[in-house]
Formats: sequence, C-alpha cells, structure tokens
Amino acid sequence: MSQTVIIVGASRGIGASLAREYAARGATLGLLARSTGALETLALELRQNHGVRVEIAALDVADREAVAPVMNSLMDRLGTVDVVIANAGVLGWRKAGDGNVAEDRRIIETNLLGAIGVIDVAVARFKAQKHGQVVGISSISAYRGIPGSGAYSASKAALTNYLEALRLELSGKGIGVTIVHPGFVKTDIGPNMEKYPFAAEPEKVAREIANGVARGKASLIVPGFPWRLIMPALKLLPDSVMKKIF
Ligand SMILES: NC(=O)c1ccc[n+]([C@@H]2O[C@H](COP(=O)([O-])OP(=O)(O)OC[C@H]3O[C@@H](n4cnc5c(N)ncnc54)[C@H](OP(=O)(O)O)[C@@H]3O)[C@@H](O)[C@H]2O)c1
Repeated sequence: MSQTVIIVGASRGIGASLAREYAARGATLGLLARSTGALETLALELRQNHGVRVEIAALDVADREAVAPVMNSLMDRLGTVDVVIANAGVLGWRKAGDGNVAEDRRIIETNLLGAIGVIDVAVARFKAQKHGQVVGISSISAYRGIPGSGAYSASKAALTNYLEALRLELSGKGIGVTIVHPGFVKTDIGPNMEKYPFAAEPEKVAREIANGVARGKASLIVPGFPWRLIMPALKLLPDSVMKKIF
C-alpha cells in the first residue's frame, strides 16, 4: 500500500526534491512551507506527473502557536500518516561580537525549536496510530561546528541530540526515528552552494534519504559517498585544518 508522507519545508531545495521522489514512488503527500505559491506550483506538477494526492498548508515553523493546529489540520485531511520529515531550515552567517544575536535566535527558533514543534505533533499522532516514522534533517555541522555559522551548527547538533534521545524513548513503540546528516547540497540555502566541496544534487540526496527511510535506518549520511568517510573524520581534525577548509 502506498505511504502518506508529510514534508515540512517542501517549497524548494531538498524538501521539494523529496516531494518529487516520494510522488514518483506513489506516495500521498502533505507539503508545508511559508511560500504557498511555490507549494501550489509543486503540488500541480506532482498531481499531473504522478497522479498522486497532494495537500498543502502554509506554515512558519518559528510561529510556535501555529505549528500544532496547522499540522493537525493537515493530518486530519490526510488520514493515517506514515512518515513526517522535519526538513525546514535556514542558514546564517555572522561575526561573533557583532551584536546580532537576533539572527542566532531566528536560526535556532526555526532549525531547532521549529523542528521540535513539528516532531512533537507527529509523535502524538504516531502514538495514537501505533506506528509512524519521524525523519529529522540535521547537517554536516552537527559533526563539527562551522566557523561563522555557530548558531546554525549548534541548532543542528542539538537537533541530532534531540532525535537520538527520542529514538531511545520511542523504541519498542512502533515509532521509528531517522536522523539525516546531509553533506553540502546544491540548493539556495546559502550563496554559491555549488562551490562547496563534494556539493551534491538535491535529487540524489532525496533518493538516498527515501531509500534509507524505507529501510527504517536510524541514521543516514547523504550522499553516502564520500560523506560517510568524511563526516566522522571531521570530529578528529585539528582546528588548524578546519580553519583552512572553511
Ligand atoms: N543545502 C545544504 O548544503 C544542506 C546541508 C546540510 C543540511 N541541510 C539542511 O537541509 C534542510 C533543507 O535545506 P535546503 O538546502 O533544501 O534549503 P532551501 O533550499 O533554502 O530550502 C529550505 C526549505 O525550508 C523551508 N523553511 C525555511 N524556514 C522555514 C520556516 N520558518 N517555516 C517553514 N518552512 C521553512 C523553506 O520554505 P519557505 O521559505 O517557503 O518557508 C524551504 O522549503 C535544512 O534543514 C538544512 O539545514 C542543507
């Protein structure tokens, strides 16, 4: 039977590629983001190309009052939901000491608290259904903080840790948790992403995520090559080498 998959942060980039990947696999989709125009265009494309059901909803995950009602209303429309992917995220760069702590707050409210809000609603539904899979999109920066992007790195390291705790808490309850660590991906999350080392196409990343989620993997590094070798090694690199890379 085909699955029902909710993707939060589906209007472009990895999220839109995940929507295309799951539509090609025949999934029923619930897509959320702030840009409803982009979601409407994507939904039309997926219905036309794959004949799948696609429901959309506007959501700013940083709006903590909105997350539960919007997610619940979408899940009510869709019925049983098999997979919820917390993918919404923003990147930010700033120089420590410039006083712009508001920028750090914005990043953490979106990437960490926004994801936790989405995941909490999903878990409540999955507990009632007695099945479901939570997927959280973390980052390479969860392995090693990236200079100039401390808040982003911290938000992703914390998200990884949160999901690890959740996986243990939910084990044996029919609810899976998959933590995804992408390497660099050619999207519009930041300028010139295509110039970063080993930057991958979002379609390839989406395919590997969907494959790993289908296998119920606890943790994924995508794309597998070369990042499965590089990411764990990042923890061991001396600061001087990290500084040269970034
Ligand atoms: N690209 C990379 O190299 C890379 C590497 C590691 C991890 N990641 C992670 O992968 C995820 C997707 O990134 P991407 O590269 O595909 O970025 P992207 O192209 O900028 O897409 C980000 C998505 O998140 C949504 N989003 C952002 N803020 C939101 C908010 N407040 N509420 C709801 N949705 C929001 C955006 O939609 P709206 O703007 O329409 O709301 C968009 O759909 C992020 O969590 C990112 O941290 C990316």
